[in-house]
Amino acid sequence: MFPEKGVDENEVLAELEKKIEKDLTFDSGKILGSMCTYPHPLARRIIREYIDRNLGDPGLHVGSRKVEEETVEMLSSLLGLEKGYGHIVSGGTEANILAVRAFRNTARVEKPELILPESAHFSFLKASDLLGVKLVWAGLKEDYSVDVDDVEDKITDNTIGIVGIAGTTGLGVVDDIPALSDLAVDYGIPLHVDAAFGGFVIPFAKALGYDLPDFDFRLKGVQSITIDPHKMGMVPIPAGGIIFREKKFLESISIPAPYLAGGKVWQATITGTRPGANALAVWAMIKHLGFEGYKRVVKEAMELSRWFAGELKRIPGVYLIREPVLNIVSFGTENLETAEEELKRRGWGISAHRGYIRIVMMPHVRREHLEAFLGDLMEVIP
Ligand SMILES: Cc1ncc(COP(=O)(O)O)c(C=O)c1O
Repeated sequence: MFPEKGVDENEVLAELEKKIEKDLTFDSGKILGSMCTYPHPLARRIIREYIDRNLGDPGLHVGSRKVEEETVEMLSSLLGLEKGYGHIVSGGTEANILAVRAFRNTARVEKPELILPESAHFSFLKASDLLGVKLVWAGLKEDYSVDVDDVEDKITDNTIGIVGIAGTTGLGVVDDIPALSDLAVDYGIPLHVDAAFGGFVIPFAKALGYDLPDFDFRLKGVQSITIDPHKMGMVPIPAGGIIFREKKFLESISIPAPYLAGGKVWQATITGTRPGANALAVWAMIKHLGFEGYKRVVKEAMELSRWFAGELKRIPGVYLIREPVLNIVSFGTENLETAEEELKRRGWGISAHRGYIRIVMMPHVRREHLEAFLGDLMEVIP
């Protein structure tokens, strides 16, 4: 019921605190199955200070708009492109929807189809429903990467684009993006890379010497990339990223917004009014940590993943779904659902998905949290 009379701030805060006391927090070390993390203190500070900035009306906040542009430029450069076109958006879902929308609008075929791996994130189901684009699923190989031959078999005159995943949601697998890029070039079809998770991992992991395929704009067929700062970028939610190689993609999804206080602008994002503070926080985090800083974060996460995978292998009745590729470790056991339920009852923030439990080594996850988890796991498995 909408309250008739207001109450004192402290009373409101006390009531709210009570209501959300059961929420798991990242600093508890109990959240092991999320791609989000405890935001960096600098990012939190920026959000607090600049919470009023609206990138939906950039004529009012011209400085923030410039900072968003610079952020897109820095992300493009991380992804091997001198000048990219895009936005800081609400997350990977919006970024993927924008890419599909741009591919559909530039292809202009009557019955648009998008080819994507069976491992693709469910955001593409939303894109399909919203945009009237049929999804054509390509099968996976034994290593859970997309079967590129199957992708090729599924290309038709209606294909508006191909999707490759650089860091799948379930297993962190990186598809053979170079081979997908070759296909895209041969058939003249744009390739979208969903690096929502991997975008802030792969460049640094490669620099650390991990053997991972190229996945970005250095490959000619790649026309757009999703890269989410609110995952391994350590920026508060919401902060996703979409980068296009060419301006024409952004233009194809831009709508005139005539009435804004800051004058007429063109808007490509799904959201109208949108948080400027989060874009400022992405900018600040990139400036603050730099390539070296993110490399350190990724180094810890990758090493922890390999240690954890080794520990899991020593537990009878537990098996790895596959060796970790990025900082995600997924495993199965007999009676997985019972084990999941019991682990959740003990306060662990995990979920069983497609027949396995996925642990994401985000920056808030420490070895002692994993040791406690392993102890509980050994007690709950049959
Ligand atoms: C590969 C991939 N793409 C897209 C998304 C969607 O991102 P968001 O939840 O920020 O919308 C996710 C989320 O986990 C993801 O793993």
